[in-house]
Amino acid sequence: MRNHPAGVVAALGLVALLALGAPLSTAHGGSARPLPHASPASLDGRCPATDETLRQLAERSGKLIGTAYRSSYGDEDPCYADTAAREFNSITPEIATFTNALAPEPGPLRFDDVDEVCQTADRHRQICQVHDIVWDPVDHPEWGIVPEWIRALDPAARRREMVSLVTGVARHFRGRGAVYTLANEVFRSDGTLTDSTWNTTGDDSYLFDAYRAARLADPSAVLLYNDYGAEEVNPKSDAVLDLATRLHDETVEVEIDGRTVAKPLLDGVGLQMHVGTDPGLAPSPESVAANIARIGKAGLLVYVTEMDVRVPVVDGRADPAAIARQARLYQDLAAVCLNSTPCRGITLWGLTDARSWITDNPGTFSGQGSAHPFDTSYRPKAAYDSLGAALQAAPAVRQEATTGSAGPSRPPGSPPTIERDGAPFGWTWGRTAAIGATVVLVGVGLAVVTGRRRRATGGDG
Ligand code: XIL
Repeated sequence: MRNHPAGVVAALGLVALLALGAPLSTAHGGSARPLPHASPASLDGRCPATDETLRQLAERSGKLIGTAYRSSYGDEDPCYADTAAREFNSITPEIATFTNALAPEPGPLRFDDVDEVCQTADRHRQICQVHDIVWDPVDHPEWGIVPEWIRALDPAARRREMVSLVTGVARHFRGRGAVYTLANEVFRSDGTLTDSTWNTTGDDSYLFDAYRAARLADPSAVLLYNDYGAEEVNPKSDAVLDLATRLHDETVEVEIDGRTVAKPLLDGVGLQMHVGTDPGLAPSPESVAANIARIGKAGLLVYVTEMDVRVPVVDGRADPAAIARQARLYQDLAAVCLNSTPCRGITLWGLTDARSWITDNPGTFSGQGSAHPFDTSYRPKAAYDSLGAALQAAPAVRQEATTGSAGPSRPPGSPPTIERDGAPFGWTWGRTAAIGATVVLVGVGLAVVTGRRRRATGGDG
């Protein structure tokens, strides 16, 4: 919330609501929370404001609520930057950590864009997630995620390049308590491995190499495996759980806060949650709940990492009934995560219909759009209210009041927690000097693999 007296904001919001004929209940019946709303015109003449933000509602339950973020959008669009800062306690660089951004050519990694995003996060006391370091979207070669110079390497060199990329990124973020969706989309829907450029041996040994490198370079990180279509119990989520369990079973010794500890290669699973209201696009909340429960039972965390709910659109406009269905699905799916212990929170893959990867990719999402909780003028949609209702209904946790270098001293795999003033402290950008004194990285050469690899490493690594 920006600097407007709360009473004025509430009154203007209410007047605006009544003028719009909005009911004083949530879009998805039930919650008694007064709608957080928002004047259609901004109070400062620019961006709509809300009287109770998603990040304020998330504070009570200690859950993470985040959005994908592009620095270029933030630079050119003040409402984008304001809304992201106001509503979320976490941001994820939307494109700044893709391989084509970090390593467009051989040589030092380029961190300028991701640093800009994470410095923005730091200014607003938000967590900054590290996204999709090992990713080759085989169905979208047009995105050019893995640059040609890497594709042209022989398999052994490509494996070395992957380890060096992961190590370089993890050293950059070392000790900041970052959450990484390190490897992304390695499975087809039947649970078999894709022909990713990074998979140089035909088996999943490259993933063990990637997670080991990340853990060694940033022992206190929260390391996730990330995928889409694995939200429900199905053959793909079976494969994800199997991989995640094996990565979790393998440990390496690292030193954290002067103590040597055996840490698992993996902490948890990221469920992307790109869904829609049309038949076949809407996962069953019951099946998602069962999937999250079984992942939790295996000792793993869950993060919803890229949520959006697309609806049919004609000339960019959605039917009001579809917008209501969308709100319900946002709420039902969000509630599944927020009411479960293993699920630490939700990142939305975009906040506004004005800046949407769904409408940017009409070839993939033909006839679909309006997928985000703010409309093209940054007015909150029914989906915003329903997300707020789900956050408000989530069980409260005791707040940790501790401040300081929480990143490295948190227990292994623990979730981001929220300070009393509403700032998440999983992320500790700017405190690296203090952290550097307490985190002693055990070099790759000294690391001892204590876990048992269940699958052979293959020959070219
Ligand atoms: C998307 C971005 O949103 C687009 O801007 C980009 O052109 C392609 O990638 N799964 C992921 C995300 O893990 O990183 C993808 O993001 C969407 C699918």
